[in-house]
Amino acid sequence: MHNLLYEIQGSIALVTINRPDKLNALNRQTLLEIEEAVALAMTDASVHAVILTGSGDKAFAAGADVAEFAQYSPTEARDLSEAGHRIMDSIAHAPKPVLAAINGFALGGGLELAMACHLRVAAPTARLGQPEVNLGLIPGYGGTQRLVEWVGRARALEMLLSGDPIDAATAHQWGLVNRISSSPETLRDESITLLQRIMQRGPIAVSHCLRLSAMAAQGDPEGYRLEMETFGSLFQQAESREGILAFLEKRKASFRGA
Ligand code: COA
Repeated sequence: MHNLLYEIQGSIALVTINRPDKLNALNRQTLLEIEEAVALAMTDASVHAVILTGSGDKAFAAGADVAEFAQYSPTEARDLSEAGHRIMDSIAHAPKPVLAAINGFALGGGLELAMACHLRVAAPTARLGQPEVNLGLIPGYGGTQRLVEWVGRARALEMLLSGDPIDAATAHQWGLVNRISSSPETLRDESITLLQRIMQRGPIAVSHCLRLSAMAAQGDPEGYRLEMETFGSLFQQAESREGILAFLEKRKASFRGA
């Protein structure tokens, strides 16, 4: 991969967008590499969670690569949007937790990427926005939909229509990020700590929570029915037998055979 760093830290795949001189702008190649990296992490049984972040201290990703836009025809732009949707959906529907560690600007496609992740931790210096209207454009990778999902329509419209970014504190207050790290330097470690807690839980149960909550976000009424079916089916899993037994025996559950 040319524009990404893919490292394994324990059971976590750390994926770093690595175009710091372009503020990690997501050109087509980088987007496709993100798709590849996430697919790799999902099929690698030794990887239990993923962190997406940006290199340098300035940006997570400052949006789609505007330089590529200059020559686009409407058909090419539509194709790019379709690819962006496919890639963001592959993250949103991933069976293992994916966390965005937002180390600076998350603008345009950068915020759309962060919003496709299941969890977001921001550095106190982060700034988040959908500035596309400044270019006479709209978000093209699901931003008009996911921003409404995470912050509600009133706040989403303020961000979409003004194009102005919000700071980390506002993003936290609005529920756009789960947490703010104590400092920019501790962002990765605090993101890892959050994922480590999740990785101690039943992995099959975690995976179902991801899937069912995605159905709720899409307003899929099947989510309620599927929750009942899934709840029942989990009782035939060794994972739930171990979890229940561990509680009754007053010990820590040992999932994943660890
Ligand atoms: N696409 C392509 N290149 C980008 C980019 C983007 N989205 N965002 C930043 N860059 C490039 C700049 O062109 C510059 O490259 P150069 O040094 O070769 O000229 C480099 O990254 C540094 O950016 P710069 O604008 O000089 O940094 P800054 O600190 O002055 O401003 C931002 C930071 C984020 C406010 C500004 O870069 C910006 O507004 N970027 C575009 C954000 C945007 O509209 N995103 C949505 C696109 S749909």
